[in-house]
Parts: sequence; C-alpha cells; structure tokens
Amino acid sequence: MKKGFLALILAAGKGTRFKSEKAKVLFPMLGKSMLNLVIDCIQGLKPEKACVVVGHQKDEVVKEASLLKVHYVYQKEQLGTAHAVMAARNILLKDRDKDVLIINGDLPLIRSETLKPLLDSHRKKGNSLTFLTAELENPTGFGRIIRSEHNMIKVIEEKDATPSERKIKEINAGVYLFKIKDLLEALPKVSNQNKKSEYYLTDITEILSQEGKKIGAFKTSHSEEIIGINDRYELAMAIEALRERKIRSLAQRGVTILDPSTAWIDLDVKIGRDTTIYSSVIIEGDCVVGTQCKLYPFVHIIDSRVGKRVKVLSSTMIEESVIEDDAQVGPFAHLRPKTLLRKGSKIGNFVETKNTVFGRRSKAGHLTYLGDSEVEDEVNIGAGTITCNYDGIKKHKTTIKKGAFIGSGTELVAPVKVGKRAYVGAGSTITKNVSPESLAVTRSNQVEKPLRIKRKKRK
Ligand code: UD1
Ligand code: CA
Repeated sequence: MKKGFLALILAAGKGTRFKSEKAKVLFPMLGKSMLNLVIDCIQGLKPEKACVVVGHQKDEVVKEASLLKVHYVYQKEQLGTAHAVMAARNILLKDRDKDVLIINGDLPLIRSETLKPLLDSHRKKGNSLTFLTAELENPTGFGRIIRSEHNMIKVIEEKDATPSERKIKEINAGVYLFKIKDLLEALPKVSNQNKKSEYYLTDITEILSQEGKKIGAFKTSHSEEIIGINDRYELAMAIEALRERKIRSLAQRGVTILDPSTAWIDLDVKIGRDTTIYSSVIIEGDCVVGTQCKLYPFVHIIDSRVGKRVKVLSSTMIEESVIEDDAQVGPFAHLRPKTLLRKGSKIGNFVETKNTVFGRRSKAGHLTYLGDSEVEDEVNIGAGTITCNYDGIKKHKTTIKKGAFIGSGTELVAPVKVGKRAYVGAGSTITKNVSPESLAVTRSNQVEKPLRIKRKKRK
C-alpha cells in the first residue's frame, strides 16, 4: 500500500504588492478565495491531513480554513518560506516517516492532475525531495533552477541571481514533496544571508543536494498553471485564465455560450445542456441553471436556482431566488431575495419582487412591485400594481388567491387579502380584504362638467 502524505499550504504572507489590508490568499477568484482553490487542488490528491500556515490576517484566514475543513498553524512573524515550514514542525514531527507536500498559497491555477505525476515520481524514485519546475517564456520574479554536474540541483532566487542566471527559463513553481525526516534535519541549516534576509525554503535544494540526497526537479508541461500571484494585475490575469477554463468546461458539457469573451460565470455554477447564454451574462455564487434555458444579454444572477426552459430576457437581475420550469422573466426585471416563481409564470419589464411566491401561470407584465406577498396560481396583475408592504415600522403580507384579477394602477395596502377569482378595478387603493368572486373598486366616480373658460381652438 502507498504511504500517506501530509500537505502544508503556505499562506502567512501579507502579499505586500497587493497593497491591501486583506490577506492575499483571501482575494476572491470567480466565487472562491485563492486559498480555497489551492486547498481544492490539494484535496484532490487525498492527503491524510492538510494544514495551512497562517500569519497575516490570521483570524480571517483561519475562518476560511475551518470552513474548508483543514487545520492551521500560526507563523507569528513572516521571515520566509522555510521559516513558515518551521512553524509546522510539531505536526511534521508526529509523522517523521511520511512525506509532506508543501505548496505556496498563491498558486491557484494549478490542478490536481498536474501534481499527480509529481507525487508519483517522488514515490517511485524514493527521493528526499522532488519539486515542480516549469519552463517559462518570461521567468521574471521566479526562483531559477540551476542544474550542474553530478546531478546537483539548486534554486536561486531572482534577487540573488547573477545576470546570466536570470536568463535561465526553468523556474521553481513553488510545490515540493519532501521526506519529512530529511526536511526536518535540513531546516535548521537554512540561513537568512541573502538579499531579502529571509529564510528561503528553496535553499534546502542545495543543502540536500550537497549531502548527496536524491533530489528530483520534475518539469511540468502545464506551464500556464504556474503563476505565483504577487500583485493585482497577476490576479486579474489568473482570474481570466480560470474564467476561460470554466467557459470551456461548460461548452464541453453542452452549454452554448455565444460570446465567450464576455460571459462571467463563477466556478461552482452548474448549467444544464442546451442552455444558451448570450453576451455579457454574469452568474455568480451558488447557482444552478437547468436545461434549455435562454439567458439574454446583461442578465445577472446571484445565488439562485433556475429550472428548465426558463427565459430570462435582457438586463434582468436575479438574487437568491428560485425560478421553476417554463417561467419567463424580464426584460429589466429585478427578483430580489426570496422570490419563488412557480412553473410557467411570467414577470415582465420593470417588475420588482421580494420575498414573494408567484403562482403557476400567474402574470405581472409591467411596472409592478410585489413585496412580502403570496400570489397563487393563474393570477393576473395589471400594470403599475404596488403592494404597500411597509408602514414605516413593520413589513406586512399581501395574499392574492387563485385566479384573482388585479386591475392596473392598484395599490394593495398590506396586510390585505384578495379572495379567489375576485376582481379589483383599475386605479383602486385596497385597504380591506376582498371577498372571493367579488369586485372591489375604490376609485371615485368620474364626473363631467362643462368648462367655465373657453379654450382657444387651435388653428
Ligand atoms: C517563491 C519561491 C520561488 C518560486 C516562487 C513561485 C522561495 C524563497 N521562493 O517566491 O523560488 O519561484 O515562490 O511562485 O520560497 N509565506 C509564508 N510565510 C513567509 C513567507 C511566505 O507563509 O514568511 C507564503 C506566502 O504567503 C506565499 C508563499 O509562502 O503564499 C510564497 O511566498 P512569496 O513571498 O510569494 O514567494 P515568492 O517570492 O513568490
Ligand atoms: Ca509568490
């Protein structure tokens, strides 16, 4: 049986170049934090235990780590990557005969599939250390790999490299597999005699190499996944790469994305087959969209469920809502949190809903506000209907029973109920319950009087 391994994610650094109060690893990338992406990748390799080294913005990072069900250790001062590993010494000591996978927390594009061969190679060769390298067209900022005679390998950091060393294109990706025993013996030998006065984890390559230990530098061909995000421009580039990856995977699963360059779809969003996404659509957070839907331009959906064959017309915003099969929304509609549109219902232009259940085949076509209401099936809501749900202190409920008809320009002053198949005349202000099968009108009668002043006739 294969030996288990531990995983250690280095995430204590401030990310100085981000110029932010927030720790770099907490920055969101298509709905997930940078740390979450790295943890997802590591969990895909099934370590026995995963542990995050936290430091800068400790409490916030710990909160994220615990949500993701990983352990953490605290690195009080950030004195370098080797110093960060030192912070996990007690955990490592408990498993001296195992391996540890150490990964920089700012490597969110890397996939488990890319790390699996590194793990396999490390185990097969019985190395002391195997680390991931890549050949980059522009290696700026990375540690360079120096391979010399007798299989000696070391990493030299950019700041400490000579001009000719800087020309080397093979770089250190920031993922290492160590035999824990050898790592623990080498760590105290790392010094901070370098340009940054930091304890570099990368110095261990030279230390182990000189001791004659077996080291492997495993070059991956997936160099596009090797990005050590140091500033917000690199973050934007990495998000763009993830976005493209998501679009590609949706397309491969049968979703039509008409304008891939403008679709913005979070990583966890699920979309069914034969759904068509028009240009500039944004789908964020925890969303599921069913099959054969059409999402027209400028639709923005957040944390919602959308059924099958739903049409969402242009410039519509949907938040924390549920839309059942065959419903239609928009254009220019706003479904605010806790809206439930039942099967086959229709919400038209300039309609806003909030905390509202809207029944099967019911319709609200134009210019309407429905808040804190329960609208049963087959109800017709005329243009310009408003539920007056707020009295300045409390919110109140409006109930509209099955088959009722609300005439245009109606105000329903909650709490109020309109009975089954009742009819409310246009322009009414309804303050009392309306009985089933009856007509309620509150507008005053139209009067007609002769004009006192003569109006000039237009020529
Ligand atoms: C590091 C490598 C470099 C490699 C590059 C890949 C070292 C010395 N250099 O450089 O060879 O090419 O990554 O992206 O390791 N961290 C801590 N505690 C600390 C310092 C850092 O937890 O005291 C964490 C950071 O939060 C970060 C990771 O370690 O997630 C890497 O640190 P960073 O400062 O970004 O290293 P690089 O300079 O990019
Ligand atoms: Ca980095």
